[in-house]
Amino acid sequence: MANKILVAYFSASGVTKKVSEEIARLSGGDLFEIEAAEPYTEADLNWTDNRSRSTLEMKDASVRPAIAKTVPDMDGYDTVILGYPIWWGVAPRIIDTFLESYDFSGKTIHPFCTSGGSGIGHSDENLHQRVKGDVKWGRGKQVNSPGEAKNFVDKLM
Ligand SMILES: Cc1cc2nc3c(=O)[nH]c(=O)nc-3n(C[C@H](O)[C@H](O)[C@H](O)COP(=O)(O)O)c2cc1C
Repeated sequence: MANKILVAYFSASGVTKKVSEEIARLSGGDLFEIEAAEPYTEADLNWTDNRSRSTLEMKDASVRPAIAKTVPDMDGYDTVILGYPIWWGVAPRIIDTFLESYDFSGKTIHPFCTSGGSGIGHSDENLHQRVKGDVKWGRGKQVNSPGEAKNFVDKLM
């Protein structure tokens, strides 16, 4: 059986989207954008505003922003490459929503992040705890630009 790959990502300002597109191209995976049911506005993303939506969400680890669409056939995938930007040192809460929305039993998940400078930190370990079922969890990597995607994908294959 062929290894069927899904590249699922959340991207508020397009950086993770560009990297994910390149990872999908190189890995032959299908792309899925994790879109917020209520899209993030520029004001929502203002991390210097301690009342902005992103700040409030990141202050409360129990928040689960709703996702607009579901993956058409999650059962059909063996591997999920999961991309997200670092927000306040960890993954945006919408990634928790995504991981809690499916049964990933028997699948392998490879997380990666983009960031403005911080590394992946403990964000991938935190996410691992969100996953139900028996999952193979790859160590997360920072992949900040499409040019770094080849090295990331080569190590997965
Ligand atoms: C609300 C918010 C919080 C952020 N927190 C961090 C952070 O803690 N460390 C960091 O290096 N970059 C941080 N960033 C920058 C993003 O991680 C970086 O710009 C990322 O590549 C954006 O990806 P995107 O365009 O796919 O949304 C933050 C950005 C936002 C909007």
